[in-house]
Amino acid sequence: MATRLSYLAGFGNEFQSEALPGALPVGQNNPQVCPYNLYAEQLSGTSFTMPRRQNMRSWLYRIQPSVTSSPFRPSGRIDPDRFGTQFGKDEVECNQLRWRPMPFPKERTDFVSGLQTICGAGSPERKEGYAIHMYSANASMENTCFSSGDGDMLIVPEHGALTLTTEFGIMEVPPGEVCVVQCGIRFSVALPGGCARGYVLEVFGSHFILPDLGPVGANGLAAARDFQTPVAWYEDREVEFLVMHKLGGHVFESVQPFSPFNVVAWHGNYAPYKYDLAKFCPVNTVSFDHADPSIFTVLTCPSPWPGGVTADFVVFPPRWTVAEHSFRPPYFHRNVMSEFMGLIRGKYEAKKDGFLPGGASLHVCMSPHGPDTDTFESGTTKDSHKPERLPADSLAFMFEVNYIPKVKKSALMSECLDKAYQECWAGLQSHFNLSERPASNGKVSD
Ligand SMILES: [Fe+2]
Repeated sequence: MATRLSYLAGFGNEFQSEALPGALPVGQNNPQVCPYNLYAEQLSGTSFTMPRRQNMRSWLYRIQPSVTSSPFRPSGRIDPDRFGTQFGKDEVECNQLRWRPMPFPKERTDFVSGLQTICGAGSPERKEGYAIHMYSANASMENTCFSSGDGDMLIVPEHGALTLTTEFGIMEVPPGEVCVVQCGIRFSVALPGGCARGYVLEVFGSHFILPDLGPVGANGLAAARDFQTPVAWYEDREVEFLVMHKLGGHVFESVQPFSPFNVVAWHGNYAPYKYDLAKFCPVNTVSFDHADPSIFTVLTCPSPWPGGVTADFVVFPPRWTVAEHSFRPPYFHRNVMSEFMGLIRGKYEAKKDGFLPGGASLHVCMSPHGPDTDTFESGTTKDSHKPERLPADSLAFMFEVNYIPKVKKSALMSECLDKAYQECWAGLQSHFNLSERPASNGKVSD
């Protein structure tokens, strides 16, 4: 294991990295014999004929090729009702949902066995849609790796750092940072802190990109230079290694007689990365009203139609709120997009109570929601001419998704489901008063 981790800076670059000098072939991808007698293996992330701007692939130079393994068979270790991305047997849930944080397991549970699918939509076979998972684990994966053949996995730790050993190198991802491991890339998760909990957004058939900035200009939000991709790292170890692979929503497994983390060098633009959310540079109103949450988009998965998305990853970072004569908390709304929210730390501005770090909420397409009763009352009475700093220890996020999610039965049956969630709006009273007619600043004419 490397003692000090190194990273390559940038987003979507043509990277190259070698753990031994000269391990990368010069001038070609697959010479007759590779340096150090390594095997050349291409990993493609898009179809070969995609336009160059979107084309993604990497070349891996490894001690033994991935093909050397026992036949894959359905894994009996994973309960598909708990972790799986087939949603045919699940139902759409119209009501607002909220979950308390998952408890840490009492029995030995690693990252993969600690995954619970909450909801999702679409079809991994057709390469469209997404799944949202949460995890709670207390053990490192040992001589075991996982990959999703269905899509890219965006991992958002809430409790406990993750050390991801991937075919491309090693990443340390503490809470406050996120990482993406793309479709097909094998990785293993160690828990240096003993326990870990967090969230995963898996997108089928497309990849995360940085959002366009439009009138914001060339700078702001997440900067490409702040994304970090691990450098090549390998181990040459003969061991019975369990390879778990999800495909078509189901988990399969096989055994290899060596570690899959045997890539001595690689080059390409299809490689895992991580990002520190503290580096996100938010933009917002400096005059009045409350901007839409799209201003906080860190990463987006575009859909085939212009301007649409399969999924957005949106963060609500610490910041100043300065809007004058405005209701500053998030407004009441019904959105065409469905919203899954999580809390990494602190308190979320629209829900001071009940929405806890490690918990989650789901507001599906056109489901009405907004600030709870206490937040509404304080938002309409407090002095809105003073700048206010949203607490530095607060960090919430949202997976905003297009397709209407189906909620896993196991998530609806979970003991963490907050059956009293809707009561947070029960105290909202009518304040309608005919005598409160707008004064001269009102927009309504006689
Ligand atoms: Fe919302």
